[in-house]
Amino acid sequence: MSLIEEINRRRTFAVISHPDAGKTTLTEKLLLFGGAIHVAGAVKSNKIKKTATSDWMEIEKQRGISVATSVMGFDYNNYKVNILDTPGHQDFAEDTYRTLTAVDSVIIVVDVAKGVEAQTRKLMEVCRMRKTPVIVFVNKLDREGKDPFDLLDEIEEELKISVRPLSWPIDMGQSFKGVYNIFEQKLDLYTPSKQTVTESVEFKDLLNPELENYVGTENAEKLRADIELIEGVYPEFDKEEYLKGELAPVFFGSALNNFGVKELLDCFLAIAPAPRPVQTEERIVRPEEEAFSGFIFKIHANMDPNHRSCIAFVKICSGKFERNANYKHVRFNKMMKFSSPTAFMAQKKSVVDEAYPGDIVGLPDTGNFKIGDSLTAGENLHFKGLPSFSPEMFKYIENADPMKAKQMNKGIDQLMDEGVAQLFINQFNGRKIIGTVGQLQFEVIQYRLLHEYGAQCRWDPLNLYKACWIESENTEELENFKKRKYQFMAKDKEGRDVFLADSSYVLQMAQADFKDIQFHFTSEF
Ligand code: G4P
Repeated sequence: MSLIEEINRRRTFAVISHPDAGKTTLTEKLLLFGGAIHVAGAVKSNKIKKTATSDWMEIEKQRGISVATSVMGFDYNNYKVNILDTPGHQDFAEDTYRTLTAVDSVIIVVDVAKGVEAQTRKLMEVCRMRKTPVIVFVNKLDREGKDPFDLLDEIEEELKISVRPLSWPIDMGQSFKGVYNIFEQKLDLYTPSKQTVTESVEFKDLLNPELENYVGTENAEKLRADIELIEGVYPEFDKEEYLKGELAPVFFGSALNNFGVKELLDCFLAIAPAPRPVQTEERIVRPEEEAFSGFIFKIHANMDPNHRSCIAFVKICSGKFERNANYKHVRFNKMMKFSSPTAFMAQKKSVVDEAYPGDIVGLPDTGNFKIGDSLTAGENLHFKGLPSFSPEMFKYIENADPMKAKQMNKGIDQLMDEGVAQLFINQFNGRKIIGTVGQLQFEVIQYRLLHEYGAQCRWDPLNLYKACWIESENTEELENFKKRKYQFMAKDKEGRDVFLADSSYVLQMAQADFKDIQFHFTSEF
């Protein structure tokens, strides 16, 4: 197969949702269709979310499994599908944001009863920023939920994206009959079952009186009226709008009952984008270019202190990746060879000889890589779009064992390179501040510093609302601001200026008083 053919058959995406909406269940059903797994219940990687926050054994167990489920690749109808797993636990949201930088599209799962929830809203912000195409799957139709029209309005409003239903439910809950598949003009009839595939009947003309025989008079009439309304209210589905990230097709189903999942997958494969050109600081990189390039978007550390090794995950952006070829680690300006790159097919990890744009390759690493690093055939490229997000929780980190200061500093540096959390140095008192999105990350850091580096840390409370990156063309105003707020200025790892706002009021006042300064909530602007 030519490089172009390999690229065109690849679909790299992530399933995202608020915890409990059904991400794991849907992922698992997609894998069942792809033949990647054979029994339901095989993907338990994110069950950690259901355990107490500081259950360490559980976290270690889960980390062990999650290397295998970080990327789940399978072949289906001549497509090569790569599903990137995202952590279920909210405290690891930053990991999820980064994973979103490595996908070409996204499926968002929404619970029919709960509608759009907090985490979904946040993840969608990242998608919107990157113009990632999204498909929405409304799940749990076997339960009572919100009126589908209301739900569409809610999705449109909350996720700030136009929607277009491509399937439509016929009743729900106890009397759920199935969905009308608008995309393929089929009637998909529901039988509650965890293993069987949906029964589908081709149904191009809804006026056909046969409809009554399948779903009953009342449902048939309602369906006809609903579809008429949909055709009247929503514009035709436009694939280009979807690819631009401006329109989300919506499907309805029940992942647990395997209902509507195959239809979702088939439509997804038909419309979702193959790997697309990627922006670097230097130029746009096209997947079909011959020279290999890729970037590290995730580093997975081994929690076993006896084997301090990591796997660095590379998203291939252009050309063919080959085992044992010489590639340039751009930040080190050094050529490197990889003798045992791994690929992830189904749930197995195996050494690969070659991989193509859209694929994810795991490189065994002993601390050479950090998030955002580029690997190329020789060119100096720096990939953009791997922002850090303003953290939500802050603590001062202190060394509790003066004999181990070196270990402590090294540990903090490496953990930050891995992207476990963000480090800021307070310019006023020189103290180190760790910023995270959840409490669990502090525990991870403390545990790993001790077990992997032999260093003991202590946390001191710090009451902050947000850390935001600031910049301005007006140097005088910028200097003035920094002087006025000198107690609240910090530097991030790259030495950029960060303002530590201790309340939303303070931030608002600062924004109002210093009009020439831009306050950014992501590190890339
Ligand atoms: P998540 O990854 O988004 O956090 O959600 P997950 O798939 O773990 O699903 C959350 C719960 O919702 C699970 O129940 C799952 O069985 C259930 N669920 C998923 N899809 C459907 C559906 O279509 N209909 C119904 N009725 N339930 C669904 P649980 O009891 O929390 O877990 P488990 O014991 O079943 O694993």
